[in-house]
Parts: sequence; C-alpha cells; structure tokens
Amino acid sequence: MTSIAGKVAVVTGAASGIGRATACLLAAEGARLAITDVDRAGLEKTAETIRAAGGQVTTYLVDVANKDAVYGFADQVAADMGGADIVLNNAGVAQMARVEDLTYDDFEWVMNIDFWGMVYGTKAFLPQMQAKGAGHVINVSSIFGLIAVPTQAAYNSAKFAIRGFTEALRLELKDTDINVSSVHPGGIKTNIVRNARFLQSTSVGEREEAVSGFDKLARTTPEKAAMTIVKGIKKNKPRILIGFDARLVDWVQRLLPTRYGFMFKGQAEDSGFKLD
Ligand SMILES: NC(=O)c1ccc[n+]([C@@H]2O[C@H](COP(=O)([O-])OP(=O)(O)OC[C@H]3O[C@@H](n4cnc5c(N)ncnc54)[C@H](O)[C@@H]3O)[C@@H](O)[C@H]2O)c1
Repeated sequence: MTSIAGKVAVVTGAASGIGRATACLLAAEGARLAITDVDRAGLEKTAETIRAAGGQVTTYLVDVANKDAVYGFADQVAADMGGADIVLNNAGVAQMARVEDLTYDDFEWVMNIDFWGMVYGTKAFLPQMQAKGAGHVINVSSIFGLIAVPTQAAYNSAKFAIRGFTEALRLELKDTDINVSSVHPGGIKTNIVRNARFLQSTSVGEREEAVSGFDKLARTTPEKAAMTIVKGIKKNKPRILIGFDARLVDWVQRLLPTRYGFMFKGQAEDSGFKLD
C-alpha cells in the first residue's frame, strides 16, 4: 500500500507504546483512525494527540481477547467509517515464568490476548478488505517469534504462532491486493514489561529490577518503531524487523537455528529474567 492518505486504519492496543505511536503516525500520514484498547484513559490520550495534530480518529473500548467484542467492533467500523483498509493487530501482553511454574491461567491470558486477539482481528476485518478489493493486515509478533528465550514459553508460543498464521495468510492472499506483514520488534521502550504478569512469588524488588533491566536493554523508541512499521506498510514488506537487535536476531536464527541460546543467556539475566 504505497499511499496511506484517506485510508481507514484500525490499530489495537493503541493506548500505549508501539500502538499509540503508530496510530499517531498513520493519522499524520492522512489515515482515518479507528483505535482500540482496554485502557480507556490511555486511549483518550492517544486520540487527543491525534486530534491536536489535525488527524481524524474514533475510539472503541474493546478487549481483543473477546471474540464477540472484536466482531462487534468490526461491524461498528464498517458502519462508522465504511470498513477498514489497514488493520494493525498490535495489542499484547507478556508473561515471565519457567514452564514448570507457568500456570494455565497465565498461559491462557497471554494466548487469548496475543494470539487469539490477532486471529479475531484478522478474521473479523478480512471480509471488509475483500469487499474493497485491497488492504493490508499487519500482525505484531516479536523477535521472540523468531527465537525462544527461557521464561518466555507462553509469549514465545503466541509470537511464533502469530508468525505462522500470518505467513500462511500471506500465501493464501498472494494473488490479491490484500497485503500481509508480520512485525518483529526488538527491544522497544514501552510499558510491556511494566504490565507483564510475573509469578506470584516474584518480589516487588525483582519486578522493578526486571522493568529497569528491560528499560536499559530496549534501545528503540516507540516513535522509531512506528516509522519502521509505516515504511514496511508502504513497501509491502512481508517481514518488518524493528531495530538493530531484531536484525541481528534474524541473522543469528538463520545461522545457528538450534544454537542461538548462548547469545541471549547473559542478556536475559541482565534484564532480571530468571534463567536458572
Ligand atoms: N516493547 C517491546 O520491546 C516489544 C518487543 C516485541 C514485540 N512487542 C509487541 O508489541 C506489541 C505492543 O506492545 P508495546 O511494547 O507497545 O506494549 P505496551 O504495554 O506499551 O502496549 C500494549 C497495549 O496493549 C493493550 N492491551 C493489553 N491487553 C489488551 C486487550 N485484552 N485488549 C486490547 N488491548 C489490550 C494495553 O492496554 C496497551 O495499551 C505487543 O504485541 C508486544 O508483544 C513489543
């Protein structure tokens, strides 16, 4: 999709971080935004920023893990704005625990938001793009959709699955004008770890250590991430890597597909994640 101006762009998880920054940038490029999140105050702040810059935006409070709510949202966008041209399935959460400690409740929480939220968002809006004969679906995976890290089994499962789903969809739609991209950010300075679920036994100090470790590691700003995503949309890139760390991980995974673990052990420990 070379031109964004005038398009209807849906962004989930737009109250913070990558979603907020990308919604603002798409609006600055002339798209009409339909933004959603579960964080009402954060969503309104994003909308105010867009309106203050002269952009057009409508807010919808939607839990992406709720299938009926996502389908209702899609119907509403069709009624209010004539259907979506661009859908950025971005809403996501993180969770940290070794598999032996991982509760089903926490595992399902991650899968329901990160994976199923992306599936609902794609399937609910796809008919609108098919009716228009064009569009772009962009699903936010992670570098953890390329490589696995101890304590990230739930997140890895969701993010690898997002990549698989997105690549299959891209092949299915290859002869159409509906483009499909997966996004693989490296460390982006957002609230993702601050909002993550930890084991109940994790102390406040350990949690704060994980947050500040992540803040030190995450070098890329959400605004820079947004620029890379929008450039990827315009160039119809199948895989959008964000940051030097993501490009490095992409290469290491290709060169050492089963032996990349050594590289991330120290890094994960520095960030406060428990590995041993
Ligand atoms: N920050 C990073 O380093 C990084 C790296 C790789 C991938 N990602 C991915 O980028 C995406 C955006 O994350 P971020 O880093 O901007 O984090 P963030 O926490 O700043 O933003 C995530 C947003 O998703 C929203 N959200 C959470 N649960 C939701 C639900 N059930 N329904 C609707 N909205 C919900 C949150 O309220 C929040 O506004 C996520 O999918 C994340 O996994 C982030």
